[in-house]
Amino acid sequence: MDIDKVFKNNQSWIEEKLELNQNYFEDLGKGQTPELLFIGCSDSRVTAEELMGLGPGDVFVHRNIANMVISIDLNVMSVINYAVDHLKVNHVVVCGHYECGGVKAAMQSADLGILNPWLRNIRDVYRIHNKELNAIDNEEKKYERLVELNVKEQCVNLIKTAVVQKAIRTKGLQVHGWVFDVHTGKLIDLKINFTKYLKDIMEIYHLD
Ligand code: CO
Repeated sequence: MDIDKVFKNNQSWIEEKLELNQNYFEDLGKGQTPELLFIGCSDSRVTAEELMGLGPGDVFVHRNIANMVISIDLNVMSVINYAVDHLKVNHVVVCGHYECGGVKAAMQSADLGILNPWLRNIRDVYRIHNKELNAIDNEEKKYERLVELNVKEQCVNLIKTAVVQKAIRTKGLQVHGWVFDVHTGKLIDLKINFTKYLKDIMEIYHLD
């Protein structure tokens, strides 16, 4: 990759924006009020804003391998707290994607060093849903289903946090689980019934 090209691209992008609105960057400098927190995979194909047709200022973004919401990951937990409590987003999205390398790696027997504890969380999703997954003969279909179930479980992890429980109760925060289909570009809404899951887990995970 020609790194100089990146700076040339940046210059054309600035010109494009200014052509549409002379005050574009002046406005951008005033602050941010995004209404959506997007938790996606670090995969280079899953661009957050671009695939949603949104731009600077619209989305607060966190990306990691396989779009995980892990309670002891200070990074994702800080992002969730800041976005929900301070930026007051109305929507939190966990967006997985088909052909996810992290999910694929978790389906295989291999020692991947520092990745092991991270991928362990995806193996745990497999264990929770092993009956359903083992009943799928087609490996590709099983892989796709694990991507979807992982999104669902990360949404459940989201609603296990105090900040999300409080925001659902007091501000009507909505939690969404999506999958980006890299083969077609389509964004698929898994229609996660988060209020039902919240009710189901409250006996054990009720914090706020
Ligand atoms: Co991925």
